[in-house]
Amino acid sequence: MIEPDAADRLILDESAAAREGVDDVVVIGDETGALTLALAADEGVRVRTHQDSVSAERALRRAAAAAGTQDRVTSLPLGRDLVADARVVLVRLPRAHAALADIAAVIAANASAQAVVFAGGRVKHMSLGMNDILRGRFETLDITHARQKSRVLVARRPRGGAAPAPVCETQRLPRLTAPVTVCAFGGAFAGASLDIGTRLLLEHLPDAVPTDARAIDLACGTGLVATWLALRDPTLRVLATDQSAIAAASARATAAANGVSARVEVVRDDALSLQPDASAAFIALNPPFHDGAAVDESLAHHLFVDVARVLASGGELWCVWNSHLRYRPALERLVGPTRQVARNAKFTVTASVPR
Ligand SMILES: C[S@@+](CC[C@H](N)C(=O)[O-])C[C@H]1O[C@@H](n2cnc3c(N)ncnc32)[C@H](O)[C@@H]1O
Repeated sequence: MIEPDAADRLILDESAAAREGVDDVVVIGDETGALTLALAADEGVRVRTHQDSVSAERALRRAAAAAGTQDRVTSLPLGRDLVADARVVLVRLPRAHAALADIAAVIAANASAQAVVFAGGRVKHMSLGMNDILRGRFETLDITHARQKSRVLVARRPRGGAAPAPVCETQRLPRLTAPVTVCAFGGAFAGASLDIGTRLLLEHLPDAVPTDARAIDLACGTGLVATWLALRDPTLRVLATDQSAIAAASARATAAANGVSARVEVVRDDALSLQPDASAAFIALNPPFHDGAAVDESLAHHLFVDVARVLASGGELWCVWNSHLRYRPALERLVGPTRQVARNAKFTVTASVPR
């Protein structure tokens, strides 16, 4: 059993009265799964839950099965079915305001008119802007006293919801003459802009990518690398993959906005777990290095291990990374011989071939 942390416990305590007699509770943003599991432990309660990360979703499925509560837990995308007619919605506040705006809009559009939302988190990750976002979608907002450095925002009487829509911006990307539309749902890495590390990668990617095996945009975020590859070579098919539901939806929207959906397949996956061994000729990667607020190099190492498995002989991983992270030894060890292609004040681009 994954134990609820202080913020989870406060959300559970503050919502206890509202949950009395309610047999269907919605949970959003419960990345550890602890809130969902705690609720499902009560035999009379069914939980509809949404977690952005597919790894979190898979871990919750395993934990619920181990607890014998899998029949009471349904994982759903952030959308109508998740919150339709819900009376109690528990939210672990996301870090990105834009992600909270999408969550609030979906709840307000679809939950019961009597719905009460308990949105909580660690005080240090909360800001007044979150109150404003909830006030924009609910008639009343109450703020609980802090307990163990956690706090809960209680929103009632939803009004004026909407389906989340991506923000789309036109960007000039390196080595393409026509502008590209980049689309981002709230919380996607770099939003609808071009990250400066990604820019360096695009400036240096090889002129031609082999077409005899898969090309992959791993950890694709808004999918702009996949779309860039597809626009540059009209014969290329690209797989864009990311563990985040927000990223996968954004990558689909970016491909569609640029007319390359037919050649950019988007999947939500942890690393490349759904891809067969030795099936890719080319992988581009701007790896994650944050787990919440903390820098965590093991996130990238996890991806490098899967890259080594999925690259076909002679294939290449092109990777951009913050130079201070010193990924070179990990790339050499986990993927294979690695050469530096470019380096500026902040970022390094490398190409690695599997052993
Ligand atoms: C630095 S961003 C790069 C996004 C995009 N490629 C770009 O260059 O703008 C890293 C991405 O890694 C994704 N990610 C983190 N852990 C992952 C995992 N285990 N499997 C797949 N993607 C992951 C995050 O969701 C995020 O979108």
